[in-house]
Amino acid sequence: MSSEIKKYEVNGTNIWVGKLHKIDNIKQEKAINFYIRPLNCTDAEQMGKLSENIYEHLKSGEECFIHKHTKEYFHEVFENPQIRYIGVFVGNHLIGMSYLRICQSKSELQEELPNCKYDFFYSKRNYGKNKVGSMGGDSVLPIYRGNSLNTVMINYRLELAQKLGCTDCTSIVDRKNRWNMAPYFASRFNLFETAMDPSDGGKISLLHKPIDKESVLSCFKPKISIPFERLEMIDYMISKGFVGIDFNKEKGEVLFAHSQYYTSKAQTIFKNHSLWQIKSRFSKAL
Ligand SMILES: CC(C)(COP(=O)(O)OP(=O)(O)OC[C@H]1O[C@@H](n2cnc3c(N)ncnc32)[C@H](O)[C@@H]1OP(=O)(O)O)[C@@H](O)C(=O)NCCC(=O)NCCS
Repeated sequence: MSSEIKKYEVNGTNIWVGKLHKIDNIKQEKAINFYIRPLNCTDAEQMGKLSENIYEHLKSGEECFIHKHTKEYFHEVFENPQIRYIGVFVGNHLIGMSYLRICQSKSELQEELPNCKYDFFYSKRNYGKNKVGSMGGDSVLPIYRGNSLNTVMINYRLELAQKLGCTDCTSIVDRKNRWNMAPYFASRFNLFETAMDPSDGGKISLLHKPIDKESVLSCFKPKISIPFERLEMIDYMISKGFVGIDFNKEKGEVLFAHSQYYTSKAQTIFKNHSLWQIKSRFSKAL
């Protein structure tokens, strides 16, 4: 686990340094340093190679929004100032990368969060000054997994988003991708909606964290755990005004808590569905 992260600012650029404790699933006697920095067009060749490697090792459930891109694609990406790639390095070797895309309209965000129903650009929200940093392309080379590198990349992108004036951060995770749930929950994201990916009909989880708000939970305290593969139950919980807030890796369960943040309907629905009713419905189904 990359617990101690040292943060530096060099000429206005954030450089984070941490330690890898595991390589190829083998605990290292002596931890190895890694660092994170923004990527630029001189990294395009390494990015193409990393993309190819990740794509070749994708398992079922990891396909969502992970594409095989060439170095030419990555060269072009840097012409778009709204997309910021960051990379994890061991020495000069790129071992992980991901992006933050700044979205300033509903249609831009739809490309990142397809079929999202919640309107992040509602005119009264943040006095109409909404700017959403959408995270994607999360990739770590297989032999370096298990060092919480994506959690560190998410935290790095959260700080970048804040620096760029974003009001919110979002992301999507394929509903079968159990490996990328914990990193987002560790960074206090909420699973607030589920949707269908129009590109392949797959099921996706939509995740969100407001930049300047620690919690979106209501004062109700009930919490319920649901096995992550019970998709219909998870949809039911969300329709009743609950959001996913944590993932128990050992049990494979998502923890849900009540929130009124994403739907004004939640309050009325909650009155009509006591916690007892919800629990008894699930205990029959589990
Ligand atoms: C998602 C991803 C970036 C997470 O990598 P990471 O930050 O190294 O993951 P973590 O350190 O949180 O891993 C926690 C545990 O899950 C395991 N794990 C992580 N990703 C795994 C994967 N794809 N397959 C199998 N096990 C995986 C780790 O080995 C570790 O096991 P341990 O607890 O026994 O040590 C990585 O799985 C990946 O690159 N996947 C392919 C691309 C992808 O699916 N991206 C997300 C699209 S939504």
